[in-house]
Amino acid sequence: MSTSAKTSSRKVNFLRRLDIRFPWLKIAGICLVGAIILIDLLNLTVPAVNDPYDKIKIAPMSYHVRVTKRSPEGKMLVALTFDDGPSIETTPALLDILYEKDVLATFFMLGSKAKNNPELVRRAESEGHIVASHTMYHQNLIRISASALTSDIAESKAVFNDILGHSPTLTRPPYGNFNKTVSSAIDTPLILWSVDTLDWKNKSTEAIMSTALSQVHDGAIILMHDIHPTTVATVPTLIDSLRKSGYEFVTVPELAEARGVNLKNGSAYYNLRP
Ligand code: NI
Repeated sequence: MSTSAKTSSRKVNFLRRLDIRFPWLKIAGICLVGAIILIDLLNLTVPAVNDPYDKIKIAPMSYHVRVTKRSPEGKMLVALTFDDGPSIETTPALLDILYEKDVLATFFMLGSKAKNNPELVRRAESEGHIVASHTMYHQNLIRISASALTSDIAESKAVFNDILGHSPTLTRPPYGNFNKTVSSAIDTPLILWSVDTLDWKNKSTEAIMSTALSQVHDGAIILMHDIHPTTVATVPTLIDSLRKSGYEFVTVPELAEARGVNLKNGSAYYNLRP
């Protein structure tokens, strides 16, 4: 018998003796292997005491599909709104500024101007801004006939529909003028403002800034006009200054959502305070 044969024969003898003396050992071994396979199959892991990931293993993580870094809850919010455009002379520069500053705004555009600048309307929307209606021809809606009112609203709706494939869901009546007839004819919420920068009159950065900063508050809807070069030139300074004071910028629908307000068609909103 060779040395290796002797060794393997000794091993067999040892195992036989072990089996005779401890018959339960084989069953215990089989049970142990079975348990290991079962644990592995069921992916049951015993979390280590200091394992920071044990919660993740135990509870499946829930997450939101909407990818956003905008978390307005509990923050001071303002909505920048721009009326009377779009203008090929001034609106593109404003869109560049808003993109650079990572700010989304709400544009109350005139149907008559949108019709002439459809690319600008599409650009504003595709860059995340809200395209809202400032009616078709900027008429004083409380002074025109019922039929003129109806046709103005219908015409502007059709213009935005042609350009964007949908009509605006917010309207700002020109001059902020409306009455019951107007609000029932407009089948969207009416968005007014609580901070008037008077930028059409205050044609200087200093004047626009001081007017805006003296009135600003949490939930403010800030009125400006993107057709004035001084307004566009002031926007970066205004954004920086408001950010420094702790304000974050949201669109009007975002502001309403953050404040738990369900905007109703025909109702007027001046601000959305907490
Ligand atoms: Ni206007």
